[in-house]
Amino acid sequence: MRTEKQIPTVPLNRFIKHSLEILKNPLPFHRKNFNEKGDVFRLKIGFKNEVFFIRDSKFAQYVLQKNQRNYVKSKIQTEDLVKYVGEGLLTSEGEKWKKQRKMLQPAFHKKQLENLLNGMQDTIISEYACIESNKTIDLFPVLNDLAFQTVVKSLFTKAASGKDMERLQFITEANQRMLVKELRQPYLAWWFNISGTLKKHLELSKEARTILKGIVEERKVSGKRYDDLLDMLLETRYDDGKGMTEEQLIDEILIIFTAGHETTSNALTFTFQLLAMHPEWQDKICKEHSKIKEQTDDLMTLVMSSKVCQQVIEESMRLYPPAYFIDRVNIAEDHFDGMTFEPGSNLLFSVYEMHRHPDLWQQPESFLPERFSEGGRQFSSQYFPFGAGPRKCIGNNFAMFEMIIAISELISKYKILPGFETIEITPLITLKPKNAFLKFEERP
Ligand code: HEM
Repeated sequence: MRTEKQIPTVPLNRFIKHSLEILKNPLPFHRKNFNEKGDVFRLKIGFKNEVFFIRDSKFAQYVLQKNQRNYVKSKIQTEDLVKYVGEGLLTSEGEKWKKQRKMLQPAFHKKQLENLLNGMQDTIISEYACIESNKTIDLFPVLNDLAFQTVVKSLFTKAASGKDMERLQFITEANQRMLVKELRQPYLAWWFNISGTLKKHLELSKEARTILKGIVEERKVSGKRYDDLLDMLLETRYDDGKGMTEEQLIDEILIIFTAGHETTSNALTFTFQLLAMHPEWQDKICKEHSKIKEQTDDLMTLVMSSKVCQQVIEESMRLYPPAYFIDRVNIAEDHFDGMTFEPGSNLLFSVYEMHRHPDLWQQPESFLPERFSEGGRQFSSQYFPFGAGPRKCIGNNFAMFEMIIAISELISKYKILPGFETIEITPLITLKPKNAFLKFEERP
């Protein structure tokens, strides 16, 4: 006979009492609740609404991998985001998602990504041109631009005009900010409607689709091949031999922009901040980089052999996971560790807390890249920067390659010094850096 475990509850009045603090940064509130209530608790966020907060990594594995068929993503990804970016890989469910994942997977294989590495490096070097020695700058906007341009150039190589790309970047970022407002201030939904704010943003999405259609048309007419992601997306076929419709292709491109740019720029920024605080790891990366460069200029060899750089990135994403929550909703009633979850329960897995759980990590709050010396795989049951299971990030290799090139390029040219005391964060849809003020000293 199963003994039923009661799930501890954080009452609505506590949620309301802390609402201002939660709006600014909800993480300390959640940490306090986890410490008091345990690794699973129920937070009442309305008279009828509640969310289960979880930092039990076995539960995460169960939901994301073992019993993933019983789970869908929450409304945030499958409805709220859809109105801006359409129904593509990140935002679809069921058979549609399965079909798209199977079709898109080959475009993100290591072998295919090899074609993109030289373009990535060129983009990264040109983005770094704005960095001046001995001047403190906020590095986040530079890296945000870098990550956007890397995705854009990987999709479109040379074919797209600078003006169109600027507009696409503006629209992607403006709509992301709007989504944050809608999620954080749902009580203003009526105002966003009557003031025309929502309409304005939906118009922007339409404009982005028109720009992208133009680029796709131009590519089709030109008959030229660039071996970039757009070529891959145009050539890939479903099992019945048919390609994607143009609307589906545009959805997938918008999704790649959204999923692939902010996450990467956040991870890169936090990594540089951590490196600024731990100069000994800058030296290690620099040494490793020059050793590899003595032997080869081949970028695939560089990214595959940059083990120290990879450890640093992995440790940085442990402490500051850009996707700091993963959400799921169960279709049928489910049970885990003596707890029962009614159909339609909202489960929020705190990647941030699992990555700092004192039972799972030694010195969880310290920056110790050496813990990843055997690779990230040994921690696959407790380390989820790219998610887990069939919906794991399709762009994880893309992101790792881009970050390794971006870090080794900068660290081999400059010593980085911190212009801040401690790393501060802004948790929005992704975990964003707040004070990446850094100074650069040219290496001799
Ligand atoms: C450091 C950078 C990145 C991080 C931390 C990250 C994180 C994640 C996570 C956690 C998920 C799973 C979400 C869930 O299960 O609910 C995901 C999915 C996804 N990511 Fe990434 N991502 C990164 C970069 C990228 C890049 C560069 C691309 C594309 C070029 C990309 C495209 C996607 C897509 C399309 C999905 C949806 C996959 C599916 O549902 O089948 N991501 N990402």
